[in-house]
Amino acid sequence: MESQFTSPFWSYYIIAIVVFCFVFVLYLLISQNKMKTSKDETMGHSWDGIEEYNNPLPKWWFWMFMATVLFSIGYLVAYPGLGDYKGALNWTQESQYQAEVAKAEAGYKQLYAKFTGQSIEATAKDPEAMVIGQNLFNTYCIQCHGSDAQGARGFPDLTDNDWLHGGTPDKIRESIAKGRFGIMAAWGPILGEEGVKDAAHYVMSLSGMEHNTDRAVRGRDIFAANCVSCHGADAKGITGMAPNLTDDVWLWGGREKDIIETITLGRNNQMPAWEGFLNDDKLHMLTAYVWGKSHGNKQ
Ligand code: HEC
Ligand code: HEC
Repeated sequence: MESQFTSPFWSYYIIAIVVFCFVFVLYLLISQNKMKTSKDETMGHSWDGIEEYNNPLPKWWFWMFMATVLFSIGYLVAYPGLGDYKGALNWTQESQYQAEVAKAEAGYKQLYAKFTGQSIEATAKDPEAMVIGQNLFNTYCIQCHGSDAQGARGFPDLTDNDWLHGGTPDKIRESIAKGRFGIMAAWGPILGEEGVKDAAHYVMSLSGMEHNTDRAVRGRDIFAANCVSCHGADAKGITGMAPNLTDDVWLWGGREKDIIETITLGRNNQMPAWEGFLNDDKLHMLTAYVWGKSHGNKQ
């Protein structure tokens, strides 16, 4: 651990204060522990006739004080407390935390061991594994994909069979481990407002929505010239490239307004990568959970 201070002076400053306190406390304890000189000597003051004898601390009390002082010295030798001195045991909050995490991980390892050797399909059928998967999902994924994993605007539904990046166990695992990007350029500046509207009406026609036929006809050409490289010639999407525009599953909303917004402004979407943060066991459980959700394990 690095010094907590900007200059070594402060470390010595604190050591000096602590050591001085010890010396002072010991001096006080010992100097005040002189045996009384005469049995009847009082402090010389009297309150309503009550006088105070000048007696030292009772022995047990004195030794209790001494014990606390000795304990503190032992403590300060063993643990960090004197400025930047690290203590003989080399204890740090961080190492204690790491040790506790390692212990917990070892416990989980046993719990997961039963599943990690299995195929994703087999794990997904195990109710116990699904509970673990759900707990992990609730911890790491619900803020974006929702507690029911059905997503929200911009965050895909993971329970349907409509996949942006592929729904096989391998592809799902890849999505979770490596993260994903969903990037579409802004077409507003290129197509202009009218061009965007035409393209939008063509997109609307693809999924059987009400649309303006003239616009859709013009939009079809715009689409063929600009959009097929990602969305495919039939606009059914290309897995890993761009979504299907012919179904009624919309990542960004399927109203005319939403479609125009998507085409005008483009989209810049990101699924964070979890590899490195979540270990292999957890990735396995989450993959099985997501795969299970979209393959019949609707809970
Ligand atoms: C910060 C928000 C966020 C978090 C947290 C998050 N995701 Fe995602 N996830 C996304 C976005 C956004 C996408 C869509 C990326 C795109 O547009 O291509 C996505 C896509 C996915 C996909 C691919 C879906 C498809 O249709 O191919 C899977 C699988 C997935 N997430 C699983 C998870 C799991 C499991 C977790 C928890 C470990 C998680 N996500 C956490 C935002 C998030
Ligand atoms: C570089 C590849 C690329 C090109 C070219 C492209 N798109 Fe996209 N488009 C995408 C991606 C990727 C997404 C999904 C964004 C996300 O994951 O959030 C998308 C999403 C959309 C959506 C929203 C779909 C939904 O489910 O909400 C619409 C509508 C759309 N594109 C229309 C078009 C039109 C019209 C054009 C041509 C003018 C076009 N795209 C050109 C990659 C592309």
